[in-house]
Amino acid sequence: MRTLLSFPLFALLFLANFISDVGAIEIDVNSTDSLVHAAWVFAHGMMSYYNGNQTGGEQGKFVEPYYWWESGAAWGGLIDYWYLTGDDTYNQQVVSSLLSQVGPDNNYMPADETTSEGNDDQSFWGFAVMNAAERNFTNPDSSQPQWLALAEAVFNVMASRWDTSTCNGGLRWQIFQFNNGYDYKNTISNAGLFMMAARLYRYTGNETYLYWAETTYNWTEGVGFVDENYYFYDGAHVETNCTNLTLYQWTYNPGIFMAGSAYLYNYTGSALWGQRVQSILDGITIFFDSTTGIMYEQACEIAGTCDVDEKAFKGILANCMGLTAQLAPFTWGAIYQHLAQTVPGIAQSCVGGRDGVTCGTTWLDVGWDNTWGLGQELSAMEVVLNLLVQNFSAPYTSTTGGSSTGLITPVETNSTTVITTGDRAGAGIITSVALLMMLGSSWWIAL
Ligand SMILES: *[C@@H]1O[C@H](CO)[C@@H](O)[C@H](O)[C@H]1NC(C)=O
Ligand SMILES: *[C@@H]1O[C@H](CO)[C@@H](O)[C@H](O)[C@H]1NC(C)=O
Ligand SMILES: *[C@@H]1O[C@H](CO)[C@@H](O)[C@H](O)[C@H]1NC(C)=O
Ligand SMILES: *[C@@H]1O[C@H](CO)[C@@H](O)[C@H](O)[C@H]1NC(C)=O
Ligand SMILES: *[C@@H]1O[C@H](CO)[C@@H](O)[C@H](O)[C@H]1NC(C)=O
Ligand SMILES: *[C@@H]1O[C@H](CO)[C@@H](O)[C@H](O)[C@H]1NC(C)=O
Ligand SMILES: *[C@@H]1O[C@H](CO)[C@@H](O)[C@H](O)[C@H]1NC(C)=O
Ligand SMILES: *[C@@H]1O[C@H](CO)[C@@H](O)[C@H](O)[C@H]1NC(C)=O
Ligand SMILES: *[C@@H]1O[C@H](CO)[C@@H](O)[C@H](O)[C@H]1NC(C)=O
Ligand SMILES: *[C@@H]1O[C@H](CO)[C@@H](O)[C@H](O)[C@H]1NC(C)=O
Repeated sequence: MRTLLSFPLFALLFLANFISDVGAIEIDVNSTDSLVHAAWVFAHGMMSYYNGNQTGGEQGKFVEPYYWWESGAAWGGLIDYWYLTGDDTYNQQVVSSLLSQVGPDNNYMPADETTSEGNDDQSFWGFAVMNAAERNFTNPDSSQPQWLALAEAVFNVMASRWDTSTCNGGLRWQIFQFNNGYDYKNTISNAGLFMMAARLYRYTGNETYLYWAETTYNWTEGVGFVDENYYFYDGAHVETNCTNLTLYQWTYNPGIFMAGSAYLYNYTGSALWGQRVQSILDGITIFFDSTTGIMYEQACEIAGTCDVDEKAFKGILANCMGLTAQLAPFTWGAIYQHLAQTVPGIAQSCVGGRDGVTCGTTWLDVGWDNTWGLGQELSAMEVVLNLLVQNFSAPYTSTTGGSSTGLITPVETNSTTVITTGDRAGAGIITSVALLMMLGSSWWIAL
């Protein structure tokens, strides 16, 4: 046994060393096969950080140093990986991972995240299940909560936290008073609510979501988190009534607002939403190097100070660019060019590690920068994947191919429904809370 086992192990190690010598990845933006191959390499790289099935690991979570939100972003990314490449290797893993974190109220508030879960964190899981509904991803067993129902529950509980006590409205960053950052209102949390509202509106046609999408966008603009150049700033503290802005600009904020606007544009055909899509697209030019056109996180990348979270933001932007290109086809040319120009940067960065294909943080022309991690792989994967979207159906809705079911059935009938009594009771409570909040805030606006 011993010899039989050690031989392949030896061979494997030998092979790994050999591969690292010849490492590097060639990516031809003009070849679908080449892009699919690159996505396969990066998806595999991403999953190499997952140990949920091993002793000491936790199902559904990429553990330390990764915060919980990033797992949500990773599973959402793997849904696109399947949709755009046809490779279903990770599908079962994605289904069980998404279901493992729903928490007792089926809304992505698992008990063991309370010490750190913010509105932004919750929304990334919301995006993942929304993506599952929109891509018609494998539906969970009928005894389990369904993708659309989960997305609605995330929206409902987030909307119920809309806070008019300061800054004229908005979501706070943190959910729990005892967490640092409860006194901060930030763009990403409100981007999360905006995105969920925009996507649910297009998917279901329910006008309540349009009201919330408009409310969130109007507030973000009113408080100055987005300025006349369509630059999005990080946020501000409630102590100063949000007058003292934290001026960092992160790729994911305009990314999410651009894609959310594209959902609204696509569904309504509204010139205003179309203009916002175009203006935000013009604004994100600051995240592409002026000579090479390569995407970079300008707030931290050159200085080398990006933290673990920030290393994943470019992936969120790339994902949002793909969605925007599908939903607002007039943006395809510009978006394609940004993504295509970024690819050589990725190819020269993703040459690190023992496997010779590990991606670094920066893609600017410095080779591999000796960093590695989930965010780096996710970002690289999202860029190559989203170059493929042109030939695929845009996100489905309930009438164009999405088969996931939601919390609220349109008409009360006695026909069979997959919604369990438990879900229905929970939904009723949450909906009432959201409704009260809504009435509360329109009363406030009327004043
Ligand atoms: C891809 O195709 C375009 C147009 O056909 C061409 O201009 C470009 O050089 C090609 N890029 C590569 C990397 O081959
Ligand atoms: C881990 O376990 C899940 C759930 O049992 C399964 O779907 C998945 O394929 C497993 N993943 C790996 C990498 O073995
Ligand atoms: C706080 O700012 C909002 C605008 O964002 C303004 O409408 C409101 O009057 C301000 N409140 C106070 C107490 O200054
Ligand atoms: C629309 O969505 C809201 C919020 O989830 C819900 O309260 C309402 O019942 C929905 N309306 C319809 C007609 O489904
Ligand atoms: C948002 O602002 C626009 C004007 O920019 C206005 O037409 C719309 O009614 C506002 N929506 C809400 C829900 O406040
Ligand atoms: C506003 O922010 C600046 C820079 O972060 C800080 O120096 C200043 O003290 C802040 N002002 C108030 C009123 O909080
Ligand atoms: C919405 O997206 C679909 C699919 O890409 C596209 O055919 C349609 O033209 C878009 N609608 C608008 C208003 O651009
Ligand atoms: C879409 O498909 C066409 C025809 O197969 C192909 O020529 C084109 O390169 C594809 N576009 C992308 C972005 O993959
Ligand atoms: C969506 O999934 C359902 C259930 O698996 C299937 O019946 C339907 O054909 C799918 N629709 C599309 C557009 O793929
Ligand atoms: C549902 O079933 C109950 C009892 O079987 C019946 O009284 C009721 O009229 C039915 N409602 C509808 C809408 O069919």
